Amino acid sequence: MNRTSSEERLARFQRDGFLVLPRFVSPEACDGLIDRARALVEAFEPGELRSIFSTTDQALTTDAYFLGSGDAIRFFFEEGAFDAEGRLRAPKALSINKIGHALHDRDPRFDAFSRTPALAALARDLGLSEPRLLQSMYIFKQPHIGGEVVCHQDATFLYTDPVTVTGFWFALEDATLDNGAMWALPGGHRQGLKARFRRDEGDRVRTEILDPTPWPEARPENGYVPLLAEKGTLIVLHGLLPHLSGPNTSDRSRHAYTFHVVDGAADYPRDNWLRRDSGSPLRGFS
Ligand code: FE2
Repeated sequence: MNRTSSEERLARFQRDGFLVLPRFVSPEACDGLIDRARALVEAFEPGELRSIFSTTDQALTTDAYFLGSGDAIRFFFEEGAFDAEGRLRAPKALSINKIGHALHDRDPRFDAFSRTPALAALARDLGLSEPRLLQSMYIFKQPHIGGEVVCHQDATFLYTDPVTVTGFWFALEDATLDNGAMWALPGGHRQGLKARFRRDEGDRVRTEILDPTPWPEARPENGYVPLLAEKGTLIVLHGLLPHLSGPNTSDRSRHAYTFHVVDGAADYPRDNWLRRDSGSPLRGFS
C-alpha cells in the first residue's frame, strides 16, 4: 500500500474508530480456518464442561473454565444449547458459540493466519509500536440460535493504560443484516471508556462503571451503521469504539475469526480477566 492510502486509512480510522477492508484475505484462507475450527470442534469432548457464553448474563458465564482460557483453546456453547436434562438440543458442531482465547498461539493454522506481513504493516500504520497479540476467538454465530453481543467497548475487557487494544475481525463467511453482522457507532470511540471488567485475586469479577450514561439504542436513526462484510473482509476496531451484533435469525451461519492486539509499551494491569498464568510471553506479528 502506498503512503497516501495508508495515511488516508489512518485518518479514517481516527475519525470513525473502525476500518472495513474488503478482500484482505483470500477465500481459500477463510476456508482453511473454517476447516480447522471444524476439526477442533470434532475433537472436543464436552463431558461435564458445559460452559456457555452470554453477554447478557456475565455472572452465569464467568466461571473457572472461562477465566483459565487466556492461554488455552476452550469451547463455549450457545445459550439454549442444552435441554432441561443437560443434553445438547442440536449436534455439537451447531451448538458452539465460540472457541477462545489463545488460538493464535496454540494452533499452528491460526498462528499462521494471524501473523502475516500485511497485518504487521497495518498494525504499524495504525500506530501500534510494539504490537502484542493478546487474545483470539473463533465465533460461529450459528443459524437461528447465534446469540446477540450487546453494545460494548473492547477496552472494557482488555484494558491497558493508555488504551491500546485494537480488534482485527475477519469475515470468514458473508456477514449480512439477517445473519448477525456487527454494528458500530462511528466516532463513538471519542467518548471515553464507560466500564471496566475487573478480576480480583480471589477470581471474583465485577464490572466497574466509569460513566453511567447508557449508549444510545442501537438503531440507524441514532447514528449506528451496519458493518456489512463479504467473506475475506477485515474489520479493524478501535478499542473504545461502541459495537455490537444482533442474533442470527437466518438459516446461514456467520463464522468470524477475531484477535485483539495491545501495545507492549502500555501497562497491562493484573486485574484484567485474561492472564497468561503459564508465563508464556505475548508475541507480536513474527
Ligand atoms: Fe467486541
